[in-house]
Amino acid sequence: MIIQPRTRGFICLTSHPQGAAQNIKNQIEYVKSKGTITDGPKKVLVIGASTGFGIASRITAAFGSGAATIGVFFEKPATEGKPGTAGWYNSAAFENEAKEAGLYAKSINGDAFSDEVKKEVIDLIKRDLGQVDLVVYSLASPRRTNPKNGVSYASVLKPINQPFTDKTVDFHTGVVSDISIQPIENEEDIANTVAVMGGEDWKFWIEDLKAAGVLAEGVKTVAYSYIGPKLTYPIYRNGTIGKAKDDLEATVPVINDLLKDLHGISYVSVNKALVTQSSSAIPVVPLYISLLYKVMKEKGIHEGTIEQIQRLFAERLYLDSTIPTDDKGRIRIDDLEMREDVQEEVAKLWDQVTTENLSEISDIKGYRDEFFNLFGFNVDGIDYEADTNEVVNVPSLANN
Ligand code: NAI
Repeated sequence: MIIQPRTRGFICLTSHPQGAAQNIKNQIEYVKSKGTITDGPKKVLVIGASTGFGIASRITAAFGSGAATIGVFFEKPATEGKPGTAGWYNSAAFENEAKEAGLYAKSINGDAFSDEVKKEVIDLIKRDLGQVDLVVYSLASPRRTNPKNGVSYASVLKPINQPFTDKTVDFHTGVVSDISIQPIENEEDIANTVAVMGGEDWKFWIEDLKAAGVLAEGVKTVAYSYIGPKLTYPIYRNGTIGKAKDDLEATVPVINDLLKDLHGISYVSVNKALVTQSSSAIPVVPLYISLLYKVMKEKGIHEGTIEQIQRLFAERLYLDSTIPTDDKGRIRIDDLEMREDVQEEVAKLWDQVTTENLSEISDIKGYRDEFFNLFGFNVDGIDYEADTNEVVNVPSLANN
């Protein structure tokens, strides 16, 4: 079939297998161009491994340090006349490239929050790898069922105390308008969001992996967080999602305690704002990202997910000296985003930006390109008019 982008709001309903495969190749080339990560991870579990920061983590582990990887994700293969999801195609391409490079790569497609998937992963580690020395936790989901009590939670993206009014952009049309977001109506919204995006499931994973004896001596685990600028505080860091990130960060000492006898350690890495399927769903954030990209590209310090994660591994997690952290013990690879000169310029542009000057003073084009890129579109060298086979296997899932 000929696959073209079909969007509904911030969701793209179609994905292009060849475009996704080319994205993966480009990320692999980038990681290879940076050379081997000295003393990097060798056996890695990535939870949320198919898109965004998760696939970048899988690629960096495999192609930056020759690691065997197990990836967990929730994606859909193609069905009659309907392409698969981008993360499905990404994972298929990743496994094919890994195989060609002689690297072990297997995937599990299912609900990472469930006990069943945790058990499946543990069995696979026992069977094939024995133990893992790095666990990356990179889930982003709007809902979670807690396997211990069977309760399902839905997260919300809302401010907490008062309504929040600011600019936002419809990145398809380029219309900048004011948006007012009403605050939560009850504390349950916070608790639900924390239950989905907080640290509990990360802790459950580490507890189960440890109890099964599949964590290696000196194991590391990392989860991803975000802080961002004051202008997004009401909707992000001081909003419901920010409470979940507080909870995720507060889980670090709990996990460190669990890992003590293995001499293991856990970190939260605060990453840069980037276009991913998750971030495009947050109001106000796409306009901020468009302005941020403009400023960072002009200064020559722009990074995408792969640049961020390669730097996280090479210059933070696998340094042979002490890993630099902030006063709360967090790794900061949002350092360039948060630089004072960058934030000052973004704030100035924020005050000025309108529908009329959007394409001039922001990188809305870069935003749009990257958004479509997530789904394998707008990728250089791909003929989008050509007939393509939408049925693609993730090799390790082919017989399931
Ligand atoms: P994403 O939407 O690109 O990736 C989410 C991943 O989770 C995918 O692999 C998806 O298959 C998987 N997933 C979702 N629900 C699942 C389930 N029930 N079972 C198994 N897999 C499931 O998201 P992104 O942006 O890469 O986010 C990853 C982490 O990075 C999140 O914690 C996010 O808050 C954080 N982060 C994101 C930033 C951004 O600007 N995008 C900035 C800083 C941190």
